[in-house]
Amino acid sequence: MAEFVVAITGASSAIHGKRLVEVLCELGHQVLLVVSDAGRLTLAHECDTTPEKLAEIKGVHLEDNSDIGARSASGSAKIDGVIICPCSGTTIGKIANGISDNLVTRSAVVAMKERRKLIIVPRESPYATVHLELMARLSGYGVVVLPASPGYYNHPKSMDELVDFIIARILDQLGLEHSIGKRWEGLN
Ligand SMILES: Cc1cc2nc3c(=O)[nH]c(=O)nc-3n(C[C@H](O)[C@H](O)[C@H](O)COP(=O)(O)O)c2cc1C
Repeated sequence: MAEFVVAITGASSAIHGKRLVEVLCELGHQVLLVVSDAGRLTLAHECDTTPEKLAEIKGVHLEDNSDIGARSASGSAKIDGVIICPCSGTTIGKIANGISDNLVTRSAVVAMKERRKLIIVPRESPYATVHLELMARLSGYGVVVLPASPGYYNHPKSMDELVDFIIARILDQLGLEHSIGKRWEGLN
């Protein structure tokens, strides 16, 4: 089974980070969870939960965002991918400029240097030009920019289905087998 870093930063839609942690663990993977201060705030405000509660899920190991020496930051640790979900404009700005001043940004920059899979899930509307430019730069560095923008072609009936659309795309990018959501089978 694989081990992933899931970082939750302070963009709205903390529910994507929470659900991603749950699904990865349900699939039997290990999660190193890192939450920024603003991510802690949105987790509480939007999901009525805490990083510590998420860490009660079997397979989750919570690391402190200020602990720059933690495993998530290591180039030699065997980590199969890093997902920043959701990813704030602040964190985009830092990682696109090589700034690794906390465990979230350090694990992202390490993922880039080690050529690990790095997925960011930005959420903002509209986007500032600076963030569009920086996301284009990150994409050029091999980072997968996977916005929290679900498709509507499968006629979602609930917010859970909209959230799972994004989770399914993340799992696809990680190359993981799953049965989350419906796949498009063409118009009929
Ligand atoms: C309730 C709330 C919602 C926010 N939503 C967003 C958002 O959707 N996108 C974004 O980029 N920043 C959003 N922010 C701002 C970030 O939290 C802020 O830029 C912070 O510095 C991000 O820091 P971090 O990247 O270390 O988590 C929001 C802040 C709050 C309090």
